[in-house]
Amino acid sequence: MLRKLLAILSAFLCFGLANQGHAEDGYDLWLRYQPLESSAKARYAPRITGVVAPGGSATIDAGIEELQRGIRGMVGQVPARQQSVQDGTVLIARRTDPLLAGLGLPFARLGGEGYLIRTVTVQGKRVTLIAGNSDVGALYGVFRFLKLIQTGEPIDNLDIVDAPKLQVRVLNHWDNLNRHVERGYSGQSLWDWQKLPLHLDPRYTDYARANASIGINGTVLTNVNANADILRPDYLQKVKALAAVFRPYGIKVYLTARFSAPIELGKLKTADPLDPQVKAWWKAKIDEIYTVIPDFGGLLVKANSEGQPGPADYHRTHAEGANMMADALAPHHGILMWRAFVYAAENAEDRHKQAYTEFQPLDGKFRDNVLVQVKNGAIDFQPREPFHPLFGAMPKTQLMMEFQITKEYLGFATHLAYLGTMWEETLEADTYRPGKGSTVAKVIETPIDPGAATGMAGVANIGSDRNWSGSQFDQANWYAFGRFAWDPDAKAEPIARDWAAMTWGRDAADGVVRMMMGSREAVVDYMTPLGLGHLMATGHHYGPGPWVSDLARPEWNPVYYHKADAAGIGFDRAKSGSDALSQYAPEVVKAWGSPKTIPENLLLWFHHVPWDYRTRSGRTLWDELVTRYDAGVDYVGRMQADWAGLKGKVDATRWAEVRDFLAIQHEEATWWRDASIAYFQSIAKRPLPAGHKPPAHDLEYYKAITTPYAPGQGQ
Ligand code: GCU
Repeated sequence: MLRKLLAILSAFLCFGLANQGHAEDGYDLWLRYQPLESSAKARYAPRITGVVAPGGSATIDAGIEELQRGIRGMVGQVPARQQSVQDGTVLIARRTDPLLAGLGLPFARLGGEGYLIRTVTVQGKRVTLIAGNSDVGALYGVFRFLKLIQTGEPIDNLDIVDAPKLQVRVLNHWDNLNRHVERGYSGQSLWDWQKLPLHLDPRYTDYARANASIGINGTVLTNVNANADILRPDYLQKVKALAAVFRPYGIKVYLTARFSAPIELGKLKTADPLDPQVKAWWKAKIDEIYTVIPDFGGLLVKANSEGQPGPADYHRTHAEGANMMADALAPHHGILMWRAFVYAAENAEDRHKQAYTEFQPLDGKFRDNVLVQVKNGAIDFQPREPFHPLFGAMPKTQLMMEFQITKEYLGFATHLAYLGTMWEETLEADTYRPGKGSTVAKVIETPIDPGAATGMAGVANIGSDRNWSGSQFDQANWYAFGRFAWDPDAKAEPIARDWAAMTWGRDAADGVVRMMMGSREAVVDYMTPLGLGHLMATGHHYGPGPWVSDLARPEWNPVYYHKADAAGIGFDRAKSGSDALSQYAPEVVKAWGSPKTIPENLLLWFHHVPWDYRTRSGRTLWDELVTRYDAGVDYVGRMQADWAGLKGKVDATRWAEVRDFLAIQHEEATWWRDASIAYFQSIAKRPLPAGHKPPAHDLEYYKAITTPYAPGQGQ
């Protein structure tokens, strides 16, 4: 009895101490390394008695430091560096290490960045070997090893081989030089340009650790709506300082290039990509960048889109523009990421079709070191979009995926929406090009030529907030992006499970995962159910604006997207309409060509459907719409209840923040539901189905709401 009491008391003290002086605020992300229970400590301790590793590598040193930090936190002992292996040593080794002779290890499967973790006997001692073909591979292995412990897995008999399926796994920061983050909901830009290069905020290192822990190996520091000044010599010195911090963690820096930089910085009269002076300017500029940062990753360009300059200003194609820069990057092994997010002013063609129309004919015309960066869908990061028709349609061009981690259209930071399920849905979609089973994942994983770089970009949700992402749960989206960039065939649920266990503790993980898994669908339901899209308020995209119809360009107006009228609702993109559907493979056209066969969650994206159309539930379309709005709001209510049940299982500070954010989400989900129903009812002119309550206010009330100071707009 006394023993039991003492045990309870000591557990209590431990918990108290661990949480004293270090109230959790989310800064530690999924790398919290909280003390394990004593039985777990006892299990792990003999397997991590010390570490043997090669010297002279900043990357290996970073791995050892992380290992020591993690083990100290979780197990309570610091595995010291040893000269020779002992039982329980963690052996970090290179392929050529004589200790590995005769072990028959599968290095050939690891590529440049993969790793193996294996329990082996070396010099008569049982050790855990972590090795890669590169030091960065070994570093990734260390993070994986720590994850095993964080998630409670056994480590006695390991045999793990893992390697990334994509080569360029890159964050896109939409960060301006004045530290404003476009579509950023987590404070200012991390990059403190004024204090660089002399002051290196320790956060830069923690940022690099977090990214390395999920295999991200590149970061584009600046906004796609680019400012040419980043290419000035003084800024390049600042970029060099950041590159030096990131280098040990295997992270390369990239920059966005403003197409008109030769005019703005070079004082040339033109930025025509075929002009010899322009070519010479870019070549000299790119050579200069590589003199300052020899392992610079390359450039990212947004051209002729939303007012950005580009080759079309000189009647040149995207390929001509991209190739000019790619040629200057090639001698340095740099890559050029050229975005396919284009829709032209004064073009009456369905916006859904425009990127395909402009890019598909250029298939095969881009240089080998160009990756055409394509958003997951053809419009713009909506809560749900069908996969972009360009995937599979440019077999001679390397396409890379662009996902948006920051939640511009999914309620900003205060709405809990786990995007893993959305990305899984896109990646596993079958393009049927060249044949069945050609998923979007396969398309982006397959190099068009041996050695061609493959990749995935994520528009970062990271800023200066203590919790990095603006909310505790948005960290999961950063985490999941890294995991999908590593393996586009991954599944959202196990990723959520890993993240939840590491971020909230294993006790809370089940509840947390349950909340996460349906959370994105809930946002779809209360904002844009049944394939609706782009109904957000103007500019900032905060809150509903389905009635907006007065903006200069048709495709900026929500009414353009839903096309609701007395007869029904939805955008006819089939043959009878814009025929955007014909940009997909025949199998997709067949499946999606009729309201009867298309998955209902894309119904209104492709079809204009009568209000009384019978949906698969047996309800009319109108009734179904209302039902979905309510289902979305109800899900948020259930998340609130689930979270209340987790009180005490997670630390109080983060718990309270999430509780408050869920309350905001509930209020705003209700706002979306009420405003949307009020508006569509004014057109459908049908009663609400039984059991569904009317909106709290009339339509005019919702139309009158303005939120001019909503965060994240461009400037
Ligand atoms: C969206 C977003 C812009 C951004 C653009 C892009 O339209 O609202 O802020 O610049 O995407 O991806 O280039």
